[in-house]
Amino acid sequence: MQKIRKAVFPVAGMGTRFLPATKANPKEMLPVVDKPLIQYAAEEAVAAGIDTLIFITGRNKRSIEDHFDKAYELETELLADGKDTMLNMVQNILPGDVKCIYIRQSEPLGLGHAVLCAKPVVGDDPFAVLLADDLVDNDAYGCTSQMVDVYEKEKCGVVGVQEVKKEEVKSYGVIAGNKIQDNLWDVDTFVEKPDPEDAPSNVAVVGRYLLEPSIFKILEETGKGAGGEIQLTDALATQAKSEKLLAYKFEGKRYDCGSKLGYLEATVELAMKHGGIGKRFTNYLQQRIK
Ligand code: UTP
Repeated sequence: MQKIRKAVFPVAGMGTRFLPATKANPKEMLPVVDKPLIQYAAEEAVAAGIDTLIFITGRNKRSIEDHFDKAYELETELLADGKDTMLNMVQNILPGDVKCIYIRQSEPLGLGHAVLCAKPVVGDDPFAVLLADDLVDNDAYGCTSQMVDVYEKEKCGVVGVQEVKKEEVKSYGVIAGNKIQDNLWDVDTFVEKPDPEDAPSNVAVVGRYLLEPSIFKILEETGKGAGGEIQLTDALATQAKSEKLLAYKFEGKRYDCGSKLGYLEATVELAMKHGGIGKRFTNYLQQRIK
C-alpha cells in the first residue's frame, strides 16, 4: 500500500467573508497570533509524513510563495544584527527536504475544480487535501496524522468530520452512512449544504481529506453543483457509490477561520496558550472582562 506523501492546499478562493483583508492577500495568509493559517496546515501535513506540498493558488499567490521561499534580504539583515533565533525561525519555516509546488487555478470554479488542478502533479498517488482556513488544534497528535493512521489501517479514502448542531448543517456538506465505531462512519453519500429538516445527519465534512487518485476522473465528470461551483463533496458522493470511503471524527479543536467569529476564537485561544505571551494575554483578558 502506498504511503501518503503529497498534500494539496487549495488557496485560490475569493475569501469574500474577510474582505477587505483578502482584497490583495489570500485568507490563508491571515495570521493567528504569529503564524499564517497556511503554515499551521503545512506543519500538520509535514508532521504526518508528507514531503510534497502542492498549493493551488489564485490571483494573489505571491505572498504564499514568498512565505515558504528563501528571504535573502531579511536573512542578511537578521544575520548582520545577530538575531540568530529569528534567523533560525525564518530559515526553518519548513524542513529542508520538503518540496513546494505551485499550480495556478485560472478561475475560482470551486473546491472540486481546485483539487482537480493538482492532477498533473499528484498522478496515481493517494494524497491529502487540507483547507488551511479550517485550523485544527491538537498539541498531542495532528489531525492529518490521525487520518493517515485510519487510512493505513482501513486502506481506503478518509474524510475528516465533526458533529455540528442541527441548525448549522446548512453551512456544510454532511454525510449519510453507517456508524461503525464511535468516531468512524462508512459513507453512503454526501449532501452539500442541506436544509436542517432534510439533512441525513449532523456529521459535517470539514477541511481534511485523504483521497484515492480515482477522484480525479470523477471530478472531470462532475458538473457544477451548489453555488454554481464544482463541489468536491459531489465527486466524493459518486466515489462513495463504487469505493469504500470512511468519515473519521478526529481529535482536536477545529476553528472555522474562514469566518470572522471562528478566526477570532482561534486567535484568542491560541494566544492564551502561546509560550511567549500566553500568561500576559490571559491576564489582560481577565482584567478586560471584569
Ligand atoms: P470557501 O468555500 O471557504 O470559499 O473555500 P472562499 O472563496 O475561500 O471564501 P468565502 O466563502 O468567499 O469567504 C474553501 C477552500 O477552498 C479553496 C479556498 O481557498 C478555501 O481554502 N477554494 C475555493 C479554491 O482554492 N478554489 C475555489 O475555486 C474555491
